[in-house]
Amino acid sequence: MNPEIKRGNYAKEEGEAVLREHEYDGIQEFDQKLPNWWLFTFYGAIVWFVVYWGLYYHTKVYSTDQEKIIASVTALQEKKDAELSATLATLDDATLIGKWATDPAIVAAGEATYTINCVACHAADLSSTMDVAGNKIPLPGRSLVDGVWEYGSKPMDIFKIINQGTPVDAAGLNGAKMVAWGQSISPKQIAEVTAFIISKNPKDFGG
Ligand code: HEC
Repeated sequence: MNPEIKRGNYAKEEGEAVLREHEYDGIQEFDQKLPNWWLFTFYGAIVWFVVYWGLYYHTKVYSTDQEKIIASVTALQEKKDAELSATLATLDDATLIGKWATDPAIVAAGEATYTINCVACHAADLSSTMDVAGNKIPLPGRSLVDGVWEYGSKPMDIFKIINQGTPVDAAGLNGAKMVAWGQSISPKQIAEVTAFIISKNPKDFGG
């Protein structure tokens, strides 16, 4: 088919060829009817935009990225809380001293956690000092082998200070406070590291 080419207006039927009225530097433009599949995709996209916008912002069908993040963080926190209560349910002073601190595997696991997380401020020998040319230079933490337990001398007190850090209303040590390790290591690891500290203080815990 060789359609007759008309000027002006616009094509209304398939196969109809219309040239737009303007002409610049000899360049002319067709004004063809767009294919239906194209038009329906286009109108469909507009309709879908309105529907999606409504669902996204005005209903609970879709959640925003922020809501998704809050939900997963909440779920994580709940998991941690559940883990903490499960660990605490079986844990008491007697168990920590009698079972955990006397079990070489648990103490070794606690030492591994200690070496990674605690040595920088409490030293490998738990003295919270560093030997520099024969001088004992203090590190930021409190000694864990001096027999002084600022926040309570029961195993569960030690578990608590490690888990929750320096209480908000406490002054810390020369203003330095300890972070709440419960944010970054599991309750089990805290119990293990507590067992390790107990094992290093047989005098204090009658072990
Ligand atoms: C960035 C330094 C730093 C790190 C790392 C650190 N602590 Fe501490 N820790 C401190 C400071 C400072 C204090 C004293 C806080 C206070 O008095 O409130 C302290 C206090 C303590 C106490 C209380 C001691 C007492 O005499 O009552 C225990 C137990 C303890 N830390 C265990 C740990 C364990 C276990 C780890 C590793 C999981 C650890 N700390 C890692 C700085 C640190």
